[in-house]
Amino acid sequence: MQRFELDESALRSARDLSRAVAEQVSRAFIGPGGVAELLLSAIVARGHVLIEGVPGVAKTTLAKALATATGCSFARVQFTPDLLPADITGTYVLDMHKSEFVLHPGPIFANVVLGDEINRAPAKTQAALLEAMQEGQVTIDGDTRQLGAPFVVLATQNPMEHEGTYPLPDAQIDRFLLKLHLGYPGVEDELRMLATYGAAPPERPEPAVQPSDILRLQALADATHAGPEILEYILALVRYTREHPRVHLGASPRAALALLHTAKSLALLRGRGFVLPDDIQELAPRVLSHRIVQSTDAELGGQRPESIVAEALANTAYQRPLSAASER
Ligand SMILES: Nc1ncnc2c1ncn2[C@@H]1O[C@H](COP(=O)(O)OP(=O)(O)O)[C@@H](O)[C@H]1O
Ligand SMILES: [Mg+2]
Repeated sequence: MQRFELDESALRSARDLSRAVAEQVSRAFIGPGGVAELLLSAIVARGHVLIEGVPGVAKTTLAKALATATGCSFARVQFTPDLLPADITGTYVLDMHKSEFVLHPGPIFANVVLGDEINRAPAKTQAALLEAMQEGQVTIDGDTRQLGAPFVVLATQNPMEHEGTYPLPDAQIDRFLLKLHLGYPGVEDELRMLATYGAAPPERPEPAVQPSDILRLQALADATHAGPEILEYILALVRYTREHPRVHLGASPRAALALLHTAKSLALLRGRGFVLPDDIQELAPRVLSHRIVQSTDAELGGQRPESIVAEALANTAYQRPLSAASER
């Protein structure tokens, strides 16, 4: 793979690209500006996002806008109880004229794949999606095919719906780089949304970057620096969750790595060549909470894993490097 120099101009262009994407997304999705930046961080970290929210909070709108703004192809899969793995991956179909089997590629081959209401399909179909997420490739009738680059799955889940759903197993939840909770918009945002969508259709998002720009950002994020103090800080946080009395299963090593990768991407998108403890603090709740399995007592008592991450952050000190220079 080509190496990219992390110099001033590369950092500036990363920051400008991120802002341009966020601006295009904001044409369609009216809400906290940080949401677009967070989703872009996930793509740059080569990760996938679980989006939780009730119907009508613009999950689909957001996913589509992100795909458009990044110049990426988009596909949506509505998960239903009768959805089959082949509905996601695709199938070979007999072409009568050529008398041969040709691949009808499934939606998984898009750059941005929205898996809507992922917990409405049974485990086998969920597994087809999650395997593709993990491997970056799919095997159809014994034939292995590479997926798009970049490739990101945005999977939605309705937190209020339990009847007739198939909750994702913990091992599969761990595959999501981060979980984003989309709540109701603030009063001002919702007013602005009504004003924007109430009359003529609003200005639609346009591509701000090309998919190849995203691939370049991915390589730059790899080169973004995280000092030993940052690594120790991440480790202290995840270990805190493992030792917590209310926790049945704490954050995994994969979770620690996810936090590091997302922090490097976020730093880069902010035009910084190195990770700060603030990046870790900002991201930890979104990267760690969904992977923590609480004890049954804590679960029944209505406690939230988010509060365990908050506790970890409050009780874990970041050891500053001896000289400011070594932070770079
Ligand atoms: N924050 C928001 N910004 C822009 N549009 C919104 C927002 N919240 C709701 N909407 C509008 O509400 C409708 C439902 O949005 P949709 O993306 O389909 O929601 P979901 O996928 O969460 O069910 C769309 O017309 C969308 O434009
Ligand atoms: Mg939707």
